[in-house]
Amino acid sequence: MPFQRNKPFDELPKLPPKAAIESPRLLKRAAGARGALGELKGVGKLLPNETILLNTLILEEARDSSEIENIVTTRDKLYRALASGSKNVDSATKEVLRYRSALWKGFGLVQEKGFISTNMIVDIQKELIENDAGIRKLSGTKLANAKTSEVIYTPPEGEGIIRELLSNFETFLNGQTELDPLIAMAVLHYQFEAIHPFYDGNGRTGRIVNVLYLVLKGLLDLPILYVSSFIINRKTDYYRLLLRVTTHGEWEPWILFMLEAVEATAIDTVEKVNAIRDSLEETIEEVREKLPRIYTKELVELLFHQPYSKVAFLVDANLAERKAAARYLNALEHIGLLKAKKVGKEKIFLNQRLFELFSQKSKR
Ligand SMILES: Nc1ncnc2c1ncn2[C@@H]1O[C@H](COP(=O)(O)OP(=O)(O)O)[C@@H](O)[C@H]1O
Ligand SMILES: [Mg+2]
Repeated sequence: MPFQRNKPFDELPKLPPKAAIESPRLLKRAAGARGALGELKGVGKLLPNETILLNTLILEEARDSSEIENIVTTRDKLYRALASGSKNVDSATKEVLRYRSALWKGFGLVQEKGFISTNMIVDIQKELIENDAGIRKLSGTKLANAKTSEVIYTPPEGEGIIRELLSNFETFLNGQTELDPLIAMAVLHYQFEAIHPFYDGNGRTGRIVNVLYLVLKGLLDLPILYVSSFIINRKTDYYRLLLRVTTHGEWEPWILFMLEAVEATAIDTVEKVNAIRDSLEETIEEVREKLPRIYTKELVELLFHQPYSKVAFLVDANLAERKAAARYLNALEHIGLLKAKKVGKEKIFLNQRLFELFSQKSKR
């Protein structure tokens, strides 16, 4: 039966796509995107500590990817929630923080196991959505236009069919393919969204799987490529092109879109990593010069682990006792590097340089 938007698309074709999808145009674009990604992989190693990059980038992605699903919060709220241990946090901020945990969880699993299974994807979605519903068992899940409620797409129904499609997805993902790995990632992302295995969280889980796939295939060592900021700007295209694969078998425009997303984001992230490194080096010099009695490299690096620091972070890192730690932070505030804020009874210190670096990014 051909695709009908109101009927469950149980005939969703399995992977790999039957048609030859690698046109010369796609391959050229894929080579460009791989080049940019290779550069990002190299540059990620240049930071003294991977936490610096991961904490901040993952939080950015958590925010952007959630924003695609209309879950909106600010960086400041997120950073504060992290520093103060998630007290008095609104629901959107909580949800974005869960996205972050889900991503970390997935990264840990991929490193540990060396593959990506259906069960792992179910675990990631569970961490994100915080309920035990798991794979859809009931009918009624549809993608509809938010304004007109018109149904756009009805995913396959029935746990058996969904599991069968996921098993095919898993085999393709972990196996060898002739396809260029970035083209394969685009194909996989379409397939995952078309299967739409969960009641909710399919978009976000699928975007987590994308970056985990790049790590699995060795295109990145760390999960630091996030295409959500690109997708936010082109959300209508993202939705439209996914649908065109279903309705017209049009793979090329969809894959081009994803390749463009990878290339643009990789270039952007390389700039970001370089900026973080410059800012860190500049700060090291400044503290060494202005506060020689408290200066250590480790102390300055710790200020870059996340935008907010507090006494407990210094104590936990064995950099100082409580009293000395408070003195250090106040001294760093005094020379204008940090800015103190009160959250409840707690005093937290913003690394303004790091914060601004991320605020500027938004070309949107
Ligand atoms: N025509 C389509 N076919 C398949 N998937 C689609 C289509 N249009 C959009 N999507 C995907 O569905 C996601 C939204 O599904 P949803 O389960 O609500 O995820 P989340 O809760 O993360 O938003 C979008 O982010 C997109 O990836
Ligand atoms: Mg949703």
